[in-house]
Amino acid sequence: MPEVKAPIITYTGINQQVEHHDLDASLLECSIMNQIPHIHECGGNGLCTTCRIRVMDGHSNLNPRTLKEQEVARVRKWDPSIRLACQCYAKGPVSIQRLVWTNSEVNRLQLETIPEGVAEERPIAILFCDIRGFTKLASENSSFDVAHILNRFYTVLGDPILVNNGVIYQYVGDEIIGLFGVSGGMKHKNCKDAVRAALGMQYAVERLNHIELVDFNVNLKLGIGINFGRAYIGHLGHPKHKQFAVVGDPVNTASRIQSFNKEVKTNILISDSVFKSVPLNTLKIGRTFTNQMAGHDYDTVLHELLSFKEMDIQLELQQSLDYLLRNEDAFASKFYDKVFTKAPDAKALFKNNMASQGRLLTHMLGGIVYSMSRPEHLTLGLKLLGESHLRYGVHEEHYPVVLECLMETIKEELGSMSNPQLLKAWKQALETVTSEMKRYAK
Ligand code: HEM
Ligand code: FES
Repeated sequence: MPEVKAPIITYTGINQQVEHHDLDASLLECSIMNQIPHIHECGGNGLCTTCRIRVMDGHSNLNPRTLKEQEVARVRKWDPSIRLACQCYAKGPVSIQRLVWTNSEVNRLQLETIPEGVAEERPIAILFCDIRGFTKLASENSSFDVAHILNRFYTVLGDPILVNNGVIYQYVGDEIIGLFGVSGGMKHKNCKDAVRAALGMQYAVERLNHIELVDFNVNLKLGIGINFGRAYIGHLGHPKHKQFAVVGDPVNTASRIQSFNKEVKTNILISDSVFKSVPLNTLKIGRTFTNQMAGHDYDTVLHELLSFKEMDIQLELQQSLDYLLRNEDAFASKFYDKVFTKAPDAKALFKNNMASQGRLLTHMLGGIVYSMSRPEHLTLGLKLLGESHLRYGVHEEHYPVVLECLMETIKEELGSMSNPQLLKAWKQALETVTSEMKRYAK
């Protein structure tokens, strides 16, 4: 019998070719088996669309779109070359390009569900954040420095929006606007996500002042206003230049709430609609104000947001993630050294390149923190991870060892940033992750 050759899968973006021996495995599984990072938030269930690829060549060697794919492709108006890697099976050579590269890009996918040319009313939380002290900084520094700082600013303030399932709507001068719930979701979750983003922004700007801006003699402050209501969302504008737009009274009100911070000398103000949408006793509130906003003939109640009442695991993890994974390779090698010292038998399970494996692990840890704001995807993703670990030969008793080694590595890498509350949050999160994965272990 002539030997049947395994089809070659070419990853054009990274110019890598792999032999695809298991024809029952999807193209997503092919990436995982070959240690090629490939985001797959819903664990290959055809729901999240993060595993999407563009098929550059060899289309006829793939199965036709599955029903799940047909549905997402219809809603998102995909051309036939875009496929979900988790739904694709190759019987011959194919060239593909992965289309989602970072966890923070995932939220932008929500915008694809927004109608073209018309606006649809959707309940959303709207966050306006204004940078105070920027004029002084701009007048005292070269335009080169100002552009650099502004970019850093947009990054550190944008991240808390993205990691909380929000989308960055606009930058207007020294203002950044985030939206939560543009593609649906429960109002209590969308409002809580916006609140967490605001608290994360506050923390991020404090770190920026203390670390990166320490030589610039400025102390930047934020004014944040959050409102919840039904606004019109769509891709609107000139037929040749349509852009994503959100309009309506709740948006204008959010902007005015933000400005009102200046009058009453607060940092974060939330409307009563936000306050009432999050579960009772969740938020620590300072003063409460009643104010008639411009254009309204009624009073709006505003609350000064101070913090969450109890530790919010997601907020804690989000604030430490970048710092923790600032040197991913060092984190991974320290972690695996510990695992192989405590469980020498585990070493034999690792068949592939340990450096790439380390990067997959840290990538996954980051992905877990991001997908905590999409819990339905997280659970499905962990199911796939648990099942694949069963195939790697991982046993139930390996999990406590790995958990212990992860916690030791996290504590050491956090260094002076480490504190009992932060460690408690990481422990709780990783216990949830490992116990979910362990359900699939023998
Ligand atoms: C917090 C829990 C864990 C996370 C987040 C995690 C994450 C990962 C990731 C992302 C991969 C890459 C392949 C894939 O996505 O399937 C992987 C592979 C692997 N993991 Fe884990 N893992 C965890 C726990 C464990 C445990 C308890 C063991 C047991 C020693 C283990 C052993 C392995 C092995 C043997 C591989 C395959 C390596 C290879 O192909 O050479 N992992 N893990
Ligand atoms: S749609 Fe493929 S992993 Fe979610």
